[in-house]
Amino acid sequence: MATEAHARYVGAIDQGTTSTRFMVFDHDGHEVARHQLEHEQILPQAGWVEHDPHEIWEATQDVIETGLSRAGITADGLVAVGITNQRETTVVWDRRTGEPYYNAIVWQDTRTDKIASALDKSGDGNLIRDRAGLPPATYFSGGKIQWILENVEGVRADAEAGHALFGNTDSWLMWWLTGGPDGGLHLTDVTNASRTMLMDLEALDWDDELLALFGVPRAMLPEIRSSSEVYGHTRADGPFGGAVPIAGDLGDQHAALVGQVCFEPGELKNTYGTGNFLVLNTGTEIVKSSNGLITTPAYKFGDAPAVYALEGSIAVTGSAIQWLRDQLGIIKAAADSESLAQSVDDNGGVCFVPAFSGLFAPYWRSDARGVIVGLSRYNTVAHIARAALEAICYQSRDVVDAMVADAGLDLTILRVDGGVTANELCMQIQADVLGVPVSRPVVAETTALGAAYAAGLAVGFWANTDELVANWHESKRWESTSTPEQREAGHAQWKKAVERTFGWID
Ligand code: G3P
Repeated sequence: MATEAHARYVGAIDQGTTSTRFMVFDHDGHEVARHQLEHEQILPQAGWVEHDPHEIWEATQDVIETGLSRAGITADGLVAVGITNQRETTVVWDRRTGEPYYNAIVWQDTRTDKIASALDKSGDGNLIRDRAGLPPATYFSGGKIQWILENVEGVRADAEAGHALFGNTDSWLMWWLTGGPDGGLHLTDVTNASRTMLMDLEALDWDDELLALFGVPRAMLPEIRSSSEVYGHTRADGPFGGAVPIAGDLGDQHAALVGQVCFEPGELKNTYGTGNFLVLNTGTEIVKSSNGLITTPAYKFGDAPAVYALEGSIAVTGSAIQWLRDQLGIIKAAADSESLAQSVDDNGGVCFVPAFSGLFAPYWRSDARGVIVGLSRYNTVAHIARAALEAICYQSRDVVDAMVADAGLDLTILRVDGGVTANELCMQIQADVLGVPVSRPVVAETTALGAAYAAGLAVGFWANTDELVANWHESKRWESTSTPEQREAGHAQWKKAVERTFGWID
């Protein structure tokens, strides 16, 4: 246990889709310091999205060094560090050199659509649904590993010989932080492993039948551990400059659930980032979805039984705002979407469904592509901006409806976090679309906080989850102002627009 004279803080590495950040938290869960760096989105052709794994490791080292210096501490000031990460994004590298065989294939990448649809046609998709809790989709790592094995020369032979290693970015960073080619640990946790289509959800281990479906050799896979335990220590010659216990590892949406202290069955959070991710704690029970949700471990703290969740993953929400800025050029900064949308009273009959990567939950349509419908001569860019904010909220509503149908969710309040929650209008629309209040905590960086909590619990910095619950405080609440009739009319219009996206790609 830390004392005032010694280590007082917990560190968190949050390796996300567009940036990597390092944050330092104190015992009250307050932010002490942070640093964040963006990395390049490599778009070699339509539907392909890649990252340079070296750039991510470089950025990680920089943010740790600057974050520690901003906090005014060295490695001795940290009781532990946790890692959280963009899930599914696939890195395959050579354990002898640390050299990736290929760029990281990002979760949004759709190049494996044929692999995914073949699994459904052959009926093997049902094995994945039953055992891994996932629908076969381009989103998950299994098809991405298969693609690298089949398309990059020499990888299969190296994988079979135990030279080629697979990992999501948690494993990639843990390996480097603990020594890289010089004995780095090759590990992941149950939450990340569950996003591969290769893990048995009940056994929490790689499954031979699933591995065979994708032709993935077991030798290339990381060992699956809990989300909160001491896995090893950082190397003194690395960015920490000393030996800090690495004691938390979990996918970013699972970390956000922990950071939002949703430890009771029935508690739900919605994170608004590049996409939206709604995660509902279902306790130690595995609930299978009949309505397009994913079943996933929420977290596993040490030897305690795994806690499970139902998740609704939405691919494009915040990135639709970026699209208005970068591709359409109708706003200068993402924040301008609020004032532009606010300049009109309603969407003027326009619906925008940003199905840029197909549609994820609850539709799982890789044949869908985005549409803007309902345009008339009257409409302006302000209506399109408003429709983009509504799309964020209606996609979330579709997932909430699926959670009500699957788990009998009785939604009385929605806990929110992530960048888009700074958009007051969007949060008001969310409350109106759902008909319940929306609540944002004081510490909006719930993803990094959740990784810090997992690490701090493992080393006794926090004694139990009650201490974490006591750290949660609301900063802002938006009350719903809509009538049931307004809600249903708006949602019906949205559903009509969603149908227009289907079948655009063969
Ligand atoms: O499943 C993808 C998700 O983990 C990405 O989250 O916040 O990096 O966009 P984010």
